[in-house]
Amino acid sequence: MRKVVITQKLPYELEDDFRGYQLVYNREDRQMDRADLLLSLRDADALISMLSDKIDRELIDAAPDLKIINNYAVGYNNIDVDYAKGKGILVCNTPHVLTETTAELAFALMISVARRIVEADKFTRMGNFVGWTPNLFLGTDLYRKRVGIYGFGRIGQAFARCCRGFEMDIVYTGNTRKYEAELNLGARFVDFDELVSSSDFIVVLAPLNEKTKHAFNLDTFKKMKKTAIFINAGRGPIVKESDLAYALKNGIIRGAGLDVYEYEPEISEELFDLDNVILLPHIGSASESTREEMAKLCINSVKNYLEKGIIPANVI
Ligand code: GLV
Ligand code: GLV
Repeated sequence: MRKVVITQKLPYELEDDFRGYQLVYNREDRQMDRADLLLSLRDADALISMLSDKIDRELIDAAPDLKIINNYAVGYNNIDVDYAKGKGILVCNTPHVLTETTAELAFALMISVARRIVEADKFTRMGNFVGWTPNLFLGTDLYRKRVGIYGFGRIGQAFARCCRGFEMDIVYTGNTRKYEAELNLGARFVDFDELVSSSDFIVVLAPLNEKTKHAFNLDTFKKMKKTAIFINAGRGPIVKESDLAYALKNGIIRGAGLDVYEYEPEISEELFDLDNVILLPHIGSASESTREEMAKLCINSVKNYLEKGIIPANVI
């Protein structure tokens, strides 16, 4: 009987899909214990992993029968992909299905920081709203402002589409020019320094790799406008978090919105004391329908590969 390991409870009824399989399913809403995972993988054919699981050499070596890993995420920096491939294991992710949902979350963060939505909500709940005043919670507009997108892949482009509705001036940077997207979205390619120094909003939607790690540090924040708002819905280690906290605290930039953290789930203590940052618990793709589609994608890839030898389209 084929064996599938799923490391965390998914918001989708999947037992029926895996009837006839030996299913090791962590039905709890917390990370699977590493020792349990290592043990379960000893004779497993497939693994559906979370972005919080570290799929390293030790773990791959502990799984001699493993044929396919499907990460329940679009990002896969938690997996030693080269090592897995070297062992003949297919590695898949969940692209496409979460693109719009993640772009919307990044946009929600951007507009919320700009208009100080969370701060203003706290103020109101505290009973502090005693009358309209011309000075209450003055924010900043999105309309016709420049947005600089770092990571102009599917999610970055979907985000740009949201920005179009606000007639924003869209610039992006990255490894490759995206000519079609430039035409369709009215986006302009600029180099990293120009993006950083000229944008009113800087939005990170890139994957984590050697090139993107710590791309945003104190030097970068110092090049930004004092009024700049920084958003990260990509991966935490793209930003040196202590430098960001310093920049926010010392008025080097105006505000930030974060969905991801350098040492997730740990968050720099200093950030908790700042009103000019919104902190979300990595919920970029967290809509009911998207999380369901992500589950279906993983299930289909695993079953098609194990049962029919079909290489999934979402293979990395
Ligand atoms: C979430 O961060 C993902 O990579 O899907
Ligand atoms: C992932 O979907 C990306 O942004 O390319």
